[in-house]
Amino acid sequence: MELKQLSDEQLSEFDTDDMFVERWNLITQCIDRDFPDGKFCFLDLGGGNGIFTDRLLYRYPEARAVVLDNSELLIRRNKPNPRKTILLASVEDMEAKLAGQQFDIVFMNWLLHHLVADSYAQTRENVRSAVGLARRHLTPKGRVSVFENLCDGILLDGLPSYLIFYISSSRWLAPLTKKLGANTAGVGVCYRSERQWLALFSSVGLRAVSSQAEKEPWYIPTFKKVLLYVLHIRDLKANLFWLKAG
Ligand SMILES: C[S@@+](CC[C@H](N)C(=O)[O-])C[C@H]1O[C@@H](n2cnc3c(N)ncnc32)[C@H](O)[C@@H]1O
Repeated sequence: MELKQLSDEQLSEFDTDDMFVERWNLITQCIDRDFPDGKFCFLDLGGGNGIFTDRLLYRYPEARAVVLDNSELLIRRNKPNPRKTILLASVEDMEAKLAGQQFDIVFMNWLLHHLVADSYAQTRENVRSAVGLARRHLTPKGRVSVFENLCDGILLDGLPSYLIFYISSSRWLAPLTKKLGANTAGVGVCYRSERQWLALFSSVGLRAVSSQAEKEPWYIPTFKKVLLYVLHIRDLKANLFWLKAG
C-alpha cells in the first residue's frame, strides 16, 4: 500500500469518543442479534485510543479484543485491560502482526477514508486491500463492521467523493481547507457514497447484512450547507455497514 500519514497534531484530534448513543445502539443491536451469547473476539482496526474497544469489553464481559493502530500517540492513550491486546502497526502489516488469528468481528470505524495515496485510484486500491485483509481474518460466522461518513451526490452519485479527495489532499489549498475546518488538509480523505462503499465491499467478497444510516441530523452551520451544495453533496451522515462474506 502507498499510504500518506497524518501528523501527530492532526491525529490528536481523534483522541475522542464519537460513538454517540444512536451509533452505539446500531452496533450493539447487530452484535446482540448475531452473537447472542456475548462470547466473541474482535479486532478494532484503526482503534486509536481504544475507548470503543473498552466500552465493548465492559458491555460484553466474555469478549476479547485486539486493537491495532499505527499512531503511537493514540496507541499510548489505551487503558490496559487483561482482555485487550494492543498493537502498534499499520493495517498493511496486519497479516504479519496477527499471525493467523481469526476474529468474529472486525471493526473499522472511520478508518478507511484515511487510507489515502496520491491518486484516487491508488486510494481505492488501498481500501480494497485493507478490507480484503480484514476479510481473511474472519471466523466462519464472522462479521465486518464499518462506520463511515457518507457523501451521496445530488445527481452524480460519485462526484463528491472525487471532489473531497482532490480538494482535501491539495497542499496548495491546505491553508484554505484548514480554515474551513478540514483536519486532514493537505493529506486528504476519501469519503464515498453508500453505493460506492457497497460496490467496493462486494469487490472483495463482502455483502451487507444491513446498511443503516443514523437518523439524528448533523448540526451544519449555514456556510457549510452552501459548501455541501458546491461539492454536490446531498447530505452528510454516518452509516453502519454490517457485512459478511458471500
Ligand atoms: C478518525 S480516527 C477513528 C478512530 C476510532 N476508530 C474511532 O472511531 O474513534 C482514524 C484512526 O485510524 C488510524 N489509522 C489511520 N491510518 C492507519 C493505518 N494505516 N493503520 C492503522 N491505523 C490507521 C488513525 O491513527 C486513527 O486512530
